[in-house]
This record gives sequence, structure tokens and C-alpha cells, in this order.
Amino acid sequence: MSLAPRIDVLRDLAGRLPAPLDQWARTCGRTAYRLNVFAWRALSGVLRGSVLGRWTARMRVSQLWAASPEERAKAEGMYWMGHPLVARRLRVKSSGRPDADGYIHLKERLTAEGWRFPVARVLSLGCGHGGLERGLASLGVAERIDGIDLSSGAIQEARRLAAEAGLGQIEYHVGDLERADFAEGAFDIVFAHQSVHHIEDLDGLCRAVRRALRPGGIFHLNEFVGPDRFQWTDAQLHHMNAFVEALPVRFRRMPLGGVRPRPARPTIAQMIAVDPSEAIRSSAILATVRRHFRVVEQRQLGGALLHIGLSGIVQNFDAQAPEDVALLEAFFALEDRLMAEGVIGSDFVTLTAVRD
Ligand SMILES: C[S@@+](CC[C@H](N)C(=O)[O-])C[C@H]1O[C@@H](n2cnc3c(N)ncnc32)[C@H](O)[C@@H]1O
Repeated sequence: MSLAPRIDVLRDLAGRLPAPLDQWARTCGRTAYRLNVFAWRALSGVLRGSVLGRWTARMRVSQLWAASPEERAKAEGMYWMGHPLVARRLRVKSSGRPDADGYIHLKERLTAEGWRFPVARVLSLGCGHGGLERGLASLGVAERIDGIDLSSGAIQEARRLAAEAGLGQIEYHVGDLERADFAEGAFDIVFAHQSVHHIEDLDGLCRAVRRALRPGGIFHLNEFVGPDRFQWTDAQLHHMNAFVEALPVRFRRMPLGGVRPRPARPTIAQMIAVDPSEAIRSSAILATVRRHFRVVEQRQLGGALLHIGLSGIVQNFDAQAPEDVALLEAFFALEDRLMAEGVIGSDFVTLTAVRD
């Protein structure tokens, strides 16, 4: 989901394009990227507000997210949350301890409140390639898990991976969360992992989730709630760039070669051209969920510096090398200090909300 800075967006995009276009963009490099972004920018400008405009935007989102996390990592580098030390930090922030992620934490919390697992049915919104549902199945969370995503390519792959793992309790559906309509009272828990920030009609989605949950059911989100369309604050950019630019150059190399340029605030047109759904109304998620549900837990995962600061380069930090570990930990400490001082916010959160 990261938008790598400037010219290197080319490589992000190349990793996300469907096969023939991908091949072409890799060969033509920067020119292909510029043409592609120019074409989408022109098309989205001309078609803005029309039915055709909405349809082409949906097509683009579906096409982008068909690429697997592994394919994207080849071009963009490891996703920042995938690094073992970042993952450990996020587990601690999600649950209070390094050996439990936010889902184990939720299951333990609900068990302490008298819930019995597996529950009958859960739903996963914007499930992508299905990593969350396979994880929930192995945790014994539900007898049946439904996953929904706009991208038919992602759903196809999620189905294949679930079948390969012998997980017959997972069912996948292609569907648009901008026009969500789920069975009434059918679900005990609705999960969203990094998908609600792709949705514009947040009230419509919350109404649909509320209707889909049985009374007392849970809406659980792990979300990007930072600036809309990645319009980073000056403080974010200043502190992340000061830290990253002081790193030895070997830490700033991109997977396809070259040193990563300084992350900057993208233009809205660039954002829309790369992914029309990216962080479309992310800053409104917390307030919207609170209007429709009773939030019983919000945990701040941070990310206001680390997300973009480590984007494309996190794989250069060896989790076994003391120097690399010390540098990452210094970056973690900087983010924690600035959050505590109120200089930056927490761009990522987990939310547990009850449908009363
Ligand atoms: C950042 S990915 C997260 C995927 C998965 N939940 C995960 O954490 O790996 C965002 C997902 O939201 C999906 N998405 C974007 N807009 C959507 C929409 N309007 N309806 C359904 N899914 C959508 C994308 O196709 C993509 O799979």
C-alpha cells in the first residue's frame, strides 16, 4: 500500500501491473511509468464523477491488488510491517506482549468476557489474497469465514491458497464495499485488515457492517487512519527524512537498484493515478466508526515515521546484525517519543467496536 517516492514509484507500479504491461513497464522504465500515470490522470480527469469514471477506477483498483504481496515485494521491497523487528514491535503494540498479535489478543479478550470459540460466522472485508482468513482459520476463530474483495484476481488466488491449505471453512466473494450489502445479523465478528482506508463511503460501510452483525457482535479493524491521500504533515516528513538520510547508504538501497530518493508528499493527482482508492478518506475512519459503534479498545500502532521512512528499504536491516538492530530500534524510539510528545499521530490503529 505504500507509495514509494517520486521516480521510484515506477518500480512500485511495475510490480503491480498485469503481466504484459508489467513486462513493458520494466523494459521501458521511467517512460512507461510516466505514460501510465499520465494516461490514468487524463482518463480520471475526463471521466471524474461519471459512471464510467467510477467503473474505470474500480477496474484499476481490482487490477492493482491482483498482484500478490510477494510480487509487490520483488519490486517495492519488503512491506515495512513484514520485517521481523517491526512485526514484533507491532505485536507488542497490538496485544501488550511479543508473542501475541491483535487477533490472539482479541480472542483472549472475548474469551475472558464469556465468548466461546469457534463462533459460528465471521466476515473479512477487503481480504486481498486471504492471509488474514487463513490465520483466523488456524486460530480456530470461526466455523465459517467469508472474505470479500473487489479484486477478482486476488479472490482467485485467495481461493487457491485456502484450498491448498485444506481450509474448506473459508468462502470468498468478489464484491464492492462501496456498495456493501451483507446478510442481516449473520456474523459474530466482522474484520477489516488494511482495507477500510480504501473506502470513500465510510458511513455506508459502517451501516452495512452494523446490520450484518448480530447484537453484541464485534467490528475489528487494523487500519491506516493517517492523512488522506498520504498528505504527510511537515513534522512527519522532517523527522523521517532527517533520520533516514543520516543512515549509511547501504540501508537506503532499493530492491531493483539505486538509492531511494527522499520521501515527499505526493500530489493528489499522482495518488489517484497510482491507486484511486488509496487512503481516500483514511483520516475520517476513527470518527465514523465511533458514530456507528461503541469502541471498547483502540491501540496505537504508530507508523507515522516508520511506514514511509522504511518503505522500500526495510529489507536492508539484518535482524541478526547488532548495528542494524540498533539503528531500527533508534528509529522506533524516535517515533515513540514524537508520538508521546504529540508531534506526530499514530497512523495505524487497531479498533475493537461493539454493535450494541
Ligand atoms: C492494502 S490491501 C489489504 C488486503 C488484505 N486485507 C491484507 O491485509 O493483506 C487493500 C485491499 O482492499 C481491496 N479494496 C479496495 N477497494 C475496495 C472496494 N471498494 N471493495 C472491496 N475491496 C476493495 C483491494 O482490492 C485490496 O485487496
